[in-house]
Amino acid sequence: MVLKTPIYMDHAATTPCDPRVVEAMLPYFTESFGNPGSRNHSFGWAGEEAVKKARKQVADLIGADPKEIIFTSGSTESNNLAIKGAGAMYARKPVGETGRGHVIVAVHEHKAVLDPCKWLMKQGFDVTFLEPAIDGIVTEEMVKSAIREDTILVTVMWANNELGTINEVPEIGALCKARNIVFHTDATQWVGKMPVDVNADNIDLLSLSGHKIYGPKGVGVLYVRRRRPRIRLVALQDGGGQERGFRSGTLNVTGIVGLGKACELYAQEADAERERLLAMRNRIEEQITARLSNVQVNGHPTRRLAHLTNISFGFVEGESLMMATSEIAMSSGSACTSASLEPSYVLKGIGVGDDMAHSSLRLSLGRWTTDEQVDFTIDKICEAVDKLRKLSPLWDMYNEGIDLTKIEWAAH
Ligand SMILES: Cc1ncc(COP(=O)(O)O)c(C=O)c1O
Repeated sequence: MVLKTPIYMDHAATTPCDPRVVEAMLPYFTESFGNPGSRNHSFGWAGEEAVKKARKQVADLIGADPKEIIFTSGSTESNNLAIKGAGAMYARKPVGETGRGHVIVAVHEHKAVLDPCKWLMKQGFDVTFLEPAIDGIVTEEMVKSAIREDTILVTVMWANNELGTINEVPEIGALCKARNIVFHTDATQWVGKMPVDVNADNIDLLSLSGHKIYGPKGVGVLYVRRRRPRIRLVALQDGGGQERGFRSGTLNVTGIVGLGKACELYAQEADAERERLLAMRNRIEEQITARLSNVQVNGHPTRRLAHLTNISFGFVEGESLMMATSEIAMSSGSACTSASLEPSYVLKGIGVGDDMAHSSLRLSLGRWTTDEQVDFTIDKICEAVDKLRKLSPLWDMYNEGIDLTKIEWAAH
């Protein structure tokens, strides 16, 4: 059978909607289109029922009470609400003053966490940016040594979106709990792949997103702890007071129904899926490192999500590698902006050199990835790297035994 291309190997960026999710959503576009806020007729009640069911499906997935589930437009909004909302609520000094409180985050977080933290800095908060070691893990120890008497918020993602590395979230949560510090985790890449229990894992605020777990785009959740302790937030948008006042705006019923269904499917299928993807991911890493020299798998060797790998290839140029493997949809560590070629700040943040950061590929497998697709991907990448290296003068010099670090390049 001829393999259909392009092949999708970018499930950490977004996932297709599961057809069962779409099926669950469809009636809410046309027949059951009521606004859950319409309390005085059956159309509204049907919408409200649907949202209630989805709220429970999400809550069950993460061990929460349905009342603790706040629907948002996705993880970007959830992160903004958690970080800015907690900053404003727990500030120690009024607006306009400095020293309003201390926040801890890590340098390789998603921009949807880093930018709200930078916003807090402009509002008079101090922010510590933790720098993880080359394994990419944020440890309990790192957070412990950064905590200050005025620390009000710690935000550490559960699994990193470029590396798949897994931070010490339950341990960091326990540390924060013991010190009455609010703890937020961006669990966008974790939920739907690994189990969550917000109580056992000591989490106060947790962000998740529909489109990373075979649900629709434009819907997500912020979990907000209600008991022991009750977490309060300043809302970012005002209006109809939906979602207990945390997030005004008519609810995205179709999206919410889809997200609920996606969560329910996880409960039934995740363990088998994880095993299957881990075997494929390991085959990719084993084959590529066996067939090519000067290759490095980035991040911690084992403390990583099962479906994701991030590999750097020495002596190839990132953009050329992407072009030579265009039948495969994957992410590159080399983000081409109009003016400059900036290597991934995540890889740089953990100490990967510019060259290896530029020539990195992130492959993330998913529910419908097949063995044939995996084999094709391995072959294509190995062929492309071989071909590009044959054209590279640096590769020739390296093979002749020349130490490239000692060369003084003349600038003209
Ligand atoms: C770790 C992480 N946080 C936040 C986001 C943003 O999520 P959304 O697209 O739902 O706004 C992403 C998506 O790329 C992500 O991977």
